[in-house]
Amino acid sequence: MYNDKIMEHFMCPQNAYYMQDSDAEGEYGDEGCGDKVICYIKVRDNVLVEVSYLVYGCATSIACASMMSVMAKGKTIEEASKITEQMVDDALGGLPPLKKHCSNLGVGALKYAIADYNYRTNNYKPKPYIDTNKKQL
Ligand code: FES
Repeated sequence: MYNDKIMEHFMCPQNAYYMQDSDAEGEYGDEGCGDKVICYIKVRDNVLVEVSYLVYGCATSIACASMMSVMAKGKTIEEASKITEQMVDDALGGLPPLKKHCSNLGVGALKYAIADYNYRTNNYKPKPYIDTNKKQL
């Protein structure tokens, strides 16, 4: 059912730890199965120098969170924001069809962590709403 790459990241997940001095964190869960991932990031000069996570979930969600952390570490905020569930799926060599949804958790938690970081570095102010349909005066 699982290929060697998935088994490797499930049996020896990388960067799986609580980061006490993180700059931001994000949590994402699946209401259907009850699993969730919390992602922690440390950012220096706009680069994710450290990415870790905790998982309460299935083997696939652990493998996907591990791969997400490997892919995100060393990337800029902008680059990491573009990581998708499909990219994680591909990097793991293809998830079994019934487990495709498990790739959402790690990527979702990363996106929330990045949103949390942007919020904190913007003095806790939400970004101003920009109405792109409004005509310029
Ligand atoms: Fe819930 Fe895999 S079954 S994330």
